[in-house]
Amino acid sequence: MIQRVVPGTLVVEHSADQAARVASACIARALVEGIGRSGSATIALSGGKTPRDTYVALAREPGVDWTKVRVFWVDERAVAPTDDRSNYRWGKATLIDGARIDADHVHRMPADGADLDAAAREYEQTIRTWVSASTGGTPSFDVVVLGAGDDGHTASLFPGEPTVDIMDRLVAPVAALGAREARLTITRPMIERARNTIVLVLGAEKRGALERAWAPRGDVHDTPVRLVAGCRGTLTWIVDDAACGPA
Ligand code: 6PG
Repeated sequence: MIQRVVPGTLVVEHSADQAARVASACIARALVEGIGRSGSATIALSGGKTPRDTYVALAREPGVDWTKVRVFWVDERAVAPTDDRSNYRWGKATLIDGARIDADHVHRMPADGADLDAAAREYEQTIRTWVSASTGGTPSFDVVVLGAGDDGHTASLFPGEPTVDIMDRLVAPVAALGAREARLTITRPMIERARNTIVLVLGAEKRGALERAWAPRGDVHDTPVRLVAGCRGTLTWIVDDAACGPA
């Protein structure tokens, strides 16, 4: 039997479709709560393929007043916003167009500029302008949606790279490596301060990453998704049987 220590709540669904429906409902609930509490809500979207069906379902959730929601990203690749690898492109095609969210409420990460360090500072300023601060002064998204890579990365915090230790910036540039393009990513304090964090992990190829994420002992430098154990808000893992593996 694999030993697991799962920080937060674990929801295991039989299929990826069902997991997307559950994730969508969970995110919608958190947005409605945020709007109820303060009159508006903020969400930061992860990229990759995993959350696309969730975003399509989320756009159709009844009860979310999308005129009161602002959309951000947890990370972005240094590609044009029309590129197939752009996280903005997929967030737009699924959630933003589906829910008809006003362009003024959509805050794309500008990772396609020449100066990524300046772009990171600019996006930090955008976050500080629109996302209200928790105690301690760090802005708190109402919802942060995260995924996990096969190598255990989350957002664009990769194993063995120094970005995972950045605590004095909200957004950081990530250098290109091999075939991987440069990126922008939110940092650990932004993840830890979210009111609700949903980690969506689907598919058998993610099994190893989840085992390392939930191993009783391990290092965030080897498996950055382990850092969600430090989340101060509500943390929910939503996974499918294929990713979870035998208990
Ligand atoms: C990105 C993501 C990233 C993603 C994982 C999983 O832009 O790469 O935000 O953190 O969540 O890489 O990606 P898949 O869902 O495609 O497996």
